[in-house]
Amino acid sequence: MLEDDPAARSLTDAEFRLFTSLLRERCGLHFDDQTRYLVEKRVWRLIDEADGGSFAAFFHRLRHGPDAEETFSRVVDMLTTNETYFFREISQLLALVTEIIPGVLARRRGASRPVDVWSAGCASGEEPLSIVMLGLEAGLVPGRDFRVFASDLSRAALARARRGVYREASFRETDARMRRRYFVEKDGLTRISDDVKRHVDFVHLNLLDHSRARLLGPMDVILCRNVMIYFDVESRRRVVRSFHDRLRPGGHLLIGHSESLIKVTTDFELCHLRRELAYRKPGPGEEPFSLSDLLAERAIDDATERGDA
Ligand SMILES: C[S@@+](CC[C@H](N)C(=O)[O-])C[C@H]1O[C@@H](n2cnc3c(N)ncnc32)[C@H](O)[C@@H]1O
Repeated sequence: MLEDDPAARSLTDAEFRLFTSLLRERCGLHFDDQTRYLVEKRVWRLIDEADGGSFAAFFHRLRHGPDAEETFSRVVDMLTTNETYFFREISQLLALVTEIIPGVLARRRGASRPVDVWSAGCASGEEPLSIVMLGLEAGLVPGRDFRVFASDLSRAALARARRGVYREASFRETDARMRRRYFVEKDGLTRISDDVKRHVDFVHLNLLDHSRARLLGPMDVILCRNVMIYFDVESRRRVVRSFHDRLRPGGHLLIGHSESLIKVTTDFELCHLRRELAYRKPGPGEEPFSLSDLLAERAIDDATERGDA
């Protein structure tokens, strides 16, 4: 076949099936005929990067080669969509910091444990960092009131998250005041302030790997937004089952605005927040609370500790 023959840069039906089945089994990612052209283009780019050999040789290397893990990481980086930005679907994040977290704190009155929040599929970190910034804006204290764990499958996206330097596209929903307050502009780069970044723990995690997910410990809130849209139904079921297992009773699961758990699970109940809907693992009943009551109570506690009261 000639080099510029399009057939030379495509995959046979059997090759396409082999490759996409591997991706589905290992990390839930689902590709069909509509995305076939994109997959083929990227596979050939990976092959060119590797050694310019055949698909069969590349596939063998991916499964059995001494560098199989790194090769698979490269495939993931090339085929995952890491699109994200600060304050995406902000009404949900506001509900988290003004209703859900204060609600858990109110229920736990007296106990000193922070609320555990997991941003599952955090890409380059804009989502968990937005949670910390909005938490601070709502008067919550990271570390004391809540902790944020963030994970992703893509090592390249995680490396960007750990570096904390962002391009303009990440700020499409960020107002100037928040940008001045929480970012540092230096040498033409925009970096998240360390006071925000140090409150997020970034870890590499495949959401289909339940035993590794267990290492994170039990959670109060899981956000998995705009991740499962790329999964087939069976993988969604597996991941949501693992979230159910990870959540404490009464814990919340937040998925993207365009997503739903219909046909995926009936293990969660729908919970009505002021302006949002969330999924909730059945557990202890909600108690009435308000953020202002909680903060007033905190002020009294602090004054008592200082001996002012
Ligand atoms: C579109 S981004 C969503 C980022 C963020 N949650 C948001 O809503 O803006 C999807 C992320 O899911 C990650 N992802 C895909 N499959 C995954 C898996 N099996 N385990 C963990 N992360 C995965 C991708 O690497 C990508 O960074």
